[in-house]
Amino acid sequence: MIAPSILAADFGKFAAEVEDVINAGCDWIHIDVMDGQFVPNITMGPQVVEALRSRFHCTLDVHLMVQKPQQVIPDFVQAGADVITIHQEATPHVHRGLEMILQSGVKAGYALNPATGLDGLAYVADIIDVLLIMTVNPGFGGQKLIPATLDKIRAARQRLVDLNRKQVRIEVDGGINAETIGAVKDAGAEIFVAGSAIFAEVDRKKAIGALTTALAA
Ligand code: DX5
Ligand code: ZN
Repeated sequence: MIAPSILAADFGKFAAEVEDVINAGCDWIHIDVMDGQFVPNITMGPQVVEALRSRFHCTLDVHLMVQKPQQVIPDFVQAGADVITIHQEATPHVHRGLEMILQSGVKAGYALNPATGLDGLAYVADIIDVLLIMTVNPGFGGQKLIPATLDKIRAARQRLVDLNRKQVRIEVDGGINAETIGAVKDAGAEIFVAGSAIFAEVDRKKAIGALTTALAA
C-alpha cells in the first residue's frame, strides 16, 4: 500500500493535491506533524486533519513527530485521525501513549528513528497495529534512504513472527521511490510512505504507477 505524504504537496492548493492522489488510487494519506522540538521543523496540526476528514473518506495516517505526544493525542483523535503513530524517542511513556490511542478507538502506530533498536517492540507489540520504521532521520522530506534500516526491517518482521504478532504492519517512511521501494518490500515492509517521489512529479498517476510497477517487479 502506497501512502502519499502530503508534506511534499503544494500547501497553496492543499485539498486539490490530496484529491489528486486519491483520484490516482491512493487510500491512505500520511500526515506529518512536526513541533520544532522533536524535529527541527514545524508543519501542521489537528486543524489540517479535521479539514481533510470533512472532505475525504480515505484513511488519515497521522505521524506525530512531537515531544510528549500524550498531550496532543486527544486533539488528533477528535480531528478524525484513523491511525496515530508516536515515536519511541519522543516520550518515556510510549506504552501509555499507545494505550491512549488504542482506547480512543484509533489504530496505534509505534515509530523508531534510524538509530533506535527493536528492544521495546516486545513490550508494545500486543497493542500496536503499525510499526513505523523510519528510513531517514525525521524532519524533512526529500532525503536519501539509509541502507542500514533494511536490516532493521528484516529483523522486525522476524521479531513480529516470533512474538506471534504477524498482523502488525510494517510501514516505512523516508526516501521511498521507484529505486528503493523493492528493497524495503523484500525486507518485509507493507505500507510505503512516499512524499517527493509523488508530489515532485506533475503527473501523480504516473508517479504512483511507477511505484506500483516497481513493487510488482
Ligand atoms: C520525514 C517524514 C516523511 C517525509 C517523507 O520526516 O516523516 O513522511 O514526508 O518524504 P520523502 O518521501 O520525500 O522522503
Ligand atoms: Zn512521516
